[in-house]
Amino acid sequence: MKIPTFDLERIQSLWENVVEINLSESGVHPLTLSELLDGDSDMLANILATPLGYPQTNGTPALRERIAALYPGSTPENVLATNGTSEANFVTLWSLLEPGDELVVMLPNYMQIWGLGRGFTGEVKPFHLRAEDGWSPDIDELRRQVTSRTRIIAVCNPNNPAGSVMNAEDMQAILDIAAEAGAWLVADEVYQGAEREGERTRSFWTLREHHDRMIITNGLSKAYGLPGLRMGWTLAPPEQAATLWSYRDYTTIAPSALSDKLAQAALEPARRERILARTRSILQRNYTVLAEWLDAHTQLFTHVAPKAGAIAWLRYHFDINSTQIVDRLRSECGVLIVPGDCFGMDRYLRIGFGGEVDAMREGLNRIGKFLNQNE
Ligand SMILES: Cc1ncc(COP(=O)(O)O)c(C=O)c1O
Repeated sequence: MKIPTFDLERIQSLWENVVEINLSESGVHPLTLSELLDGDSDMLANILATPLGYPQTNGTPALRERIAALYPGSTPENVLATNGTSEANFVTLWSLLEPGDELVVMLPNYMQIWGLGRGFTGEVKPFHLRAEDGWSPDIDELRRQVTSRTRIIAVCNPNNPAGSVMNAEDMQAILDIAAEAGAWLVADEVYQGAEREGERTRSFWTLREHHDRMIITNGLSKAYGLPGLRMGWTLAPPEQAATLWSYRDYTTIAPSALSDKLAQAALEPARRERILARTRSILQRNYTVLAEWLDAHTQLFTHVAPKAGAIAWLRYHFDINSTQIVDRLRSECGVLIVPGDCFGMDRYLRIGFGGEVDAMREGLNRIGKFLNQNE
């Protein structure tokens, strides 16, 4: 199978750990292990006593119980624990798509599902979020794109890179279109819980009585600040959860035993609330700094304030290719951000604002100086 290069991940893999200031990340500054355990000596003893064998390969019952508790009406039978949301997305696409099937994908998007879809079927169609509508989905376009061959409608909500969150009406409309076509709805909800303000994003799972051919993917990498645990999950009807598990036998077999246990700790209700409160306070504090910087550079950018996620998706007003800007910023100024080209949208830049605030301030200063000199 030939797959297109996953440009966003390639750039990050090459540069994020060597660049001086990394503003390419879409989640918040990660927790340390000791911050996660937060002085809980029983939990620490429990972690130290973990046998480093294979855990239950679809996730221990205790972990799947914790995940199921996040989705009213679900049970551990609905859950497969995976290595990151990436593996959740991978086994989902791999198990569902046959050659000749169509995949209709929301754009802009984290391009994993887009790239996998092209590898697995060749027939990938977009439907768009519209900037002029505050990055709301173009439901009429989705209706036009879906046919009897559509196997999957894939959404990312909250959205990477736009930071938008769909309203209830649009969610229902998308699900109705999937139901009418007999298609699976695949919802990557990894930014759920990373809302800067307002309510927590509703999961598509809450709508499943209207259409239960749906798979939710999620994980601890963004809202929880725990990407190093590589913990994700799928939530699916039990029969499909069993199928996903059998596909996962061919990828990584099981999550790591330590990550399984640490994920149980992160999802313990009181600790989970503390972690999500930390995320929100980082987003609010850092967005204030970013918003001030944007206010001082209105001649350079237009943007819609993100509702969720630690990313600002900026439309710039000058005539240079986005990859060129990003390459020069990295090599001349030591700052890494993401070019719109990675999302098929030149003339945009994605700036992460979830990291350490002083480094972010310095990174923004360097970006501002560079762009003012080169616009
Ligand atoms: C929408 C989306 N899905 C999945 C992933 C990958 O997540 P994980 O680190 O949990 O594999 C990312 C990472 O940026 C993402 O933005």
